[in-house]
Amino acid sequence: MRRFAMILLTAVLALSLAACGGNASEPAETSAQNETTNAAPAAIVETIPSPETARAEAATDGSKTLVAYFSRVGNTDFPDDIDAVSSATLSRKDGELKGNAQLMAEWMAEEAGGDLFAIQTENTYPIDYRETTDVAKREQNANDRPALKTHIDGMADYSTVYVVFPNWWVDLPMAVYAFFDEYDLSGKTVYVSITHEGSGFSRTVSTIENLEPDASVIEGLSIRGSKVPKSEETVRQFVRDHQ
Ligand SMILES: Cc1cc2nc3c(=O)[nH]c(=O)nc-3n(C[C@H](O)[C@H](O)[C@H](O)COP(=O)(O)O)c2cc1C
Repeated sequence: MRRFAMILLTAVLALSLAACGGNASEPAETSAQNETTNAAPAAIVETIPSPETARAEAATDGSKTLVAYFSRVGNTDFPDDIDAVSSATLSRKDGELKGNAQLMAEWMAEEAGGDLFAIQTENTYPIDYRETTDVAKREQNANDRPALKTHIDGMADYSTVYVVFPNWWVDLPMAVYAFFDEYDLSGKTVYVSITHEGSGFSRTVSTIENLEPDASVIEGLSIRGSKVPKSEETVRQFVRDHQ
């Protein structure tokens, strides 16, 4: 009986030691797993593309952002010493003359990391503000499409298009109609923003919906011209909110 008890005790001890051995090997396994776990992010980090690579890839997968704008500046041969009357509705940034739509578009492109595109006409508009309004009215009455001198190669690369323009005679400038006529924005998200002196969007958003029926057209920012120079943060925040 005593002998049997000794054998039983020895067997229990042996089993306990084996069990301990198993437990002792666990941390080693865990640390091996930790090494694997630690190694994984390093491998992932290696595969995360640099911003340059990301941009290059975006160029081919159709997910780039375009910011297209039309502005009086860029479509008028303003002299360097332009008088206060002609430039009353324009802004200066670092001494350089800027259109209001242009300023909004530049901030948007910077914030979105997108490409900036100026819609420019073959024929420039008069330096004088009133004369420009007369020309614009005649273009509108004639349902004219001014010839554009700037064009986009590879519109297919873009999935998001911000369009910024001034309200001209309670409508889009006719050059912006020409832009929408030239490009099929089907399947793209189009954010429409406007600058004005009281008319706001007018009916421009629904007009663009009709011009681009297969695009997702979204009403963006409407900013009075005189308020544009102080609206940088509003414009940037708008882009951040829609990314
Ligand atoms: C030809 C022309 C027509 C305009 N028509 C209107 C209008 O109908 N309603 C309005 O609120 N502002 C009108 N404006 C004012 C512009 O929309 C406003 O000054 C805008 O901020 C100018 O932007 P820009 O500097 O990018 O050209 C007109 C300006 C021009 C030159």
